[in-house]
Amino acid sequence: MRRTRSAPEAIGRMYDERSPIGDELRDGQLHMWYWYDDADEATLPEAVHRITRKVTDTLGLRPGEHLLDAGCGPGETAVYLTTEFGARVTGITVSDFEVAKATERAATAGVDDRAVFQHGDYASLDFPDGSFDAVLALETLQYANDLDQVLREFHRVLRPGGRLSFSDFSLESAHDPERIDTFAASLGLSVLPTLDEWLRHLRDAGFEVEEYTQCGPRVFGRKSKYLRVAMERREEVAAKFGEEALDGYSAGLRGFFAPRRDQIGYVIASARRTRAT
Ligand SMILES: C[S@@+](CC[C@H](N)C(=O)[O-])C[C@H]1O[C@@H](n2cnc3c(N)ncnc32)[C@H](O)[C@@H]1O
Repeated sequence: MRRTRSAPEAIGRMYDERSPIGDELRDGQLHMWYWYDDADEATLPEAVHRITRKVTDTLGLRPGEHLLDAGCGPGETAVYLTTEFGARVTGITVSDFEVAKATERAATAGVDDRAVFQHGDYASLDFPDGSFDAVLALETLQYANDLDQVLREFHRVLRPGGRLSFSDFSLESAHDPERIDTFAASLGLSVLPTLDEWLRHLRDAGFEVEEYTQCGPRVFGRKSKYLRVAMERREEVAAKFGEEALDGYSAGLRGFFAPRRDQIGYVIASARRTRAT
């Protein structure tokens, strides 16, 4: 894949532009969907929430634990973690829109004493060693210009025994590389590792891998279902944001759909900072 190296500020501007419509369509969760099959009647927000649940379940969070939500988006995941698990969440993102939206969402949900958000780049974290019990990186490591450095930062801010869970795209078939390049350019991806490469990066950063899955066929593999359900809300979204904004949003994501269904996987992985390190 042709590598894009985008400064975090540029990624932040991209999310300032894309997140308002994405937030509306996916109810505050800016990540992929999970549909069992084409007849699955889950709505888009429900299908997206399945990913939230599947990834965060791997963390084994306990009440009162402090989690870093790295690349937190507009805050729905953090609200879920406080209400479902009783966790405390600090969210960071490079998008100003997302910091404001996530802060507002936590206040509306009445959890702003347990979920706070700030502008920050995960490559260089402003937290002391061992500050967190868990780190979540839900579809955000794809923007890491130096993935190993980011994983070492997560390792540093975790206490010994702390857990990291992430989900992200994986490269399943490099045949037809032009389609992959189109996909990567539309998202501004910096990396698209294979499943084995993801796991190697985790181990190289000092993590012990405890769980992983590749559920791409139910995620990217359901791209035509996503197009159908998103189209059903087109008029409503256009009425709220305007035709021009919606056209810009759709044009920016057109290349996302270029790969064949079996070329792009979706990895969920969970790992632990071992106690000895
Ligand atoms: C696909 S969205 C996922 C958002 C959220 N995790 C969710 O699942 O709803 C990617 C997120 O990564 C954030 N991001 C990208 N690069 C980042 C960086 N260097 N540091 C912190 N956040 C970053 C973006 O601002 C955005 O919030």
